[in-house]
Amino acid sequence: MKKILLILLPVVLIAGFAVYQIANASTSSKIGGLMDKKILVAYFSWSGNTKSIAEKIHNQVGGDIFRIEPVTPYPEDYNETAYGVAKAQKDKGIHPPITNTDVSSYDVIFVGTPAWWYTMAPPVMTFLAENNFEGKTIVPFVTHGGGGGYTIDKDMAELAKGAKVLSPFVVYGRGGVGVDKDLSDWINKL
Ligand SMILES: Cc1cc2nc3c(=O)[nH]c(=O)nc-3n(C[C@H](O)[C@H](O)[C@H](O)COP(=O)(O)O)c2cc1C
Repeated sequence: MKKILLILLPVVLIAGFAVYQIANASTSSKIGGLMDKKILVAYFSWSGNTKSIAEKIHNQVGGDIFRIEPVTPYPEDYNETAYGVAKAQKDKGIHPPITNTDVSSYDVIFVGTPAWWYTMAPPVMTFLAENNFEGKTIVPFVTHGGGGGYTIDKDMAELAKGAKVLSPFVVYGRGGVGVDKDLSDWINKL
């Protein structure tokens, strides 16, 4: 019996270690400063630009990806969204209900938003205000229509209490032909 146990023990240990490594590899990054950190790429996107950048970041850093969705979708019409719902939310400081996710198991959370009325989109405000980011690192990325990144990184820091917020990646629309290189340069400096 002892002999069988002695033979089986290393097998069980090796198998257990292998399972741990595989589970870990699926959400951990292998890139520079992100080495072995648990990563989530969370983003909101209305017309697809931020989604495009989020997917490129996810392809480069690995980890999980999550689309922040408002419970009540914005209208498809630009004017109704921009000058109606979104403007009203901005003016009244409304954080609309969203489908949320649990961020507790992640170390680094990339948070993507379009610039909406000089700051982040309201569903992203909800995401930052409703989760506990204490001790976590937030890496913002912003797509815009010509206005730039405003103070979105600082606005994020105000909502995500206790988080360290890094410098954002800011891009017009989906970025031009060089966007993949710009992204990898930025990611490698994190
Ligand atoms: C409601 C709304 C507000 C916007 N406000 C701004 C703004 O303040 N500054 C700016 O540069 N672009 C603004 N835009 C343009 C978007 O930031 C830009 O098109 C962005 O890339 C869209 O991202 P998405 O495709 O992921 O939704 C706004 C667009 C919408 C719909």
